[in-house]
Amino acid sequence: MDLDPAALVADAARAVAESESADELSAAANRFLGKKGSLADAKKGLGAMEPDQRKAAGQAINAVKAEVEALVDARRAELHALARAEQLEAERLDLTEVHTELRRGHLHLVTQARYRLEDVFCGMGYKVAEGPEVETAWYNFEALNIPEWHPARGSFDTIFVNMGEPESVMLRSHTSPVQIRTMEQQKPPIYIIAPGRTFRTDTADATHLPAFNQIEGLVVDRGITMGDLAGTIDEFVKAFFGHEVETRLRPSYFPFTEPSAEFDISRDDGSWLELGGCGMVHPEVLRNCGIDPDEFSGFAFGFGIDRLAVMRYQLDDIRELVNNDVRFLRQF
Ligand code: PHE
Repeated sequence: MDLDPAALVADAARAVAESESADELSAAANRFLGKKGSLADAKKGLGAMEPDQRKAAGQAINAVKAEVEALVDARRAELHALARAEQLEAERLDLTEVHTELRRGHLHLVTQARYRLEDVFCGMGYKVAEGPEVETAWYNFEALNIPEWHPARGSFDTIFVNMGEPESVMLRSHTSPVQIRTMEQQKPPIYIIAPGRTFRTDTADATHLPAFNQIEGLVVDRGITMGDLAGTIDEFVKAFFGHEVETRLRPSYFPFTEPSAEFDISRDDGSWLELGGCGMVHPEVLRNCGIDPDEFSGFAFGFGIDRLAVMRYQLDDIRELVNNDVRFLRQF
C-alpha cells in the first residue's frame, strides 16, 4: 500500500471545496470514503503487511478518514447555510413602502377664521356656547319673539325636518336660538359667543351657501347700552381685520332686538360690506327666559363666518369653501 496521508487529505480537501452542491459533495466524499474509494483501497493493502507496519498504517488510514469526514461535514454545513440564505433572499417580501413626501394637513380656512374669532372674543372675557343644529320652533322662532304669524318667519327660508307637527322641527336658520338656551341655563352677567352651522333653503351661488356658519354674540348685564354694542363690534373688527378697518351701524329690524341694526365694515375701495345684524336684546326675549328687563339689559349680534373668510382671503366665490379642492385649500 502506498498511502501518502498528506497528499490524500489535500486531494480530498480540494474535491470537497470544489463541490458546489449536496450531490457533488456526496460524489466527492464517495471517491475517498466509499466502498470503492481511496481509503477502502488502502485498507485492502493492510492484510499483506507485517503486523507492526499494519498497526501504524491502520492508524494513519483512520486519521485520514476522520480528517476527510470532518472536511465533508464542514462543507455540507456550509452548502446548507448557503442554500438557506438563497432561499430566504428569494422568498423575501418587502413590506416597506417608500413615501417620497409626508405632508401634514391644516385646518380649513373657515375653521381658522372661527378659532381666531373665538380668540378675539375670549380675550374680551367671553365664553363659547353651543346649541344643537336641529331646533324646535320655540328656540328658532317663538322665544326670539317671532310668533307663528310673523312675516319674519318667511324671510328665514327655513329647512324643516319631517318630525312631529308640521314646521315644528327645523335645521336652525341662525345661531340666535343659542341666546335662548344660554339665558335659560344661566343668570346674568352673560358674555357668550356661539359659533356654529346654520341652514337655509338658499341655492348655492357665488355669495350663498345653504349650509353656512354664523357666530352669535350675547351680552346681558346691568346697564348695557347700544354704546357697548358699537364699541364691542369695532373692537373685534379691528382685532380681526386690522386697525384701518372702520365699522358702522345702520338702522334695521329684527324681532328679537330693539333697536336693531346691521353692521358694516369698510373696504379698501371705500365701500361698505354688510357683515351681520345686531341690536339691544328685546325685553320680550329677556322675559321669555325669566330675566327681568327692568334690572338687566343686553345686546346681541350675529354674522356669517364664511363671508368673513371670503372677505379676509379675498375669494371670488364662497362655494370654494365647500368644493374641497385641495389645490384651493392648500393656499391658506
Ligand atoms: N340672527 C340674525 C340673522 O341670522 C342676526 C342677528 C343676531 C340679529 C343677533 C340681531 C341680533 O339674520
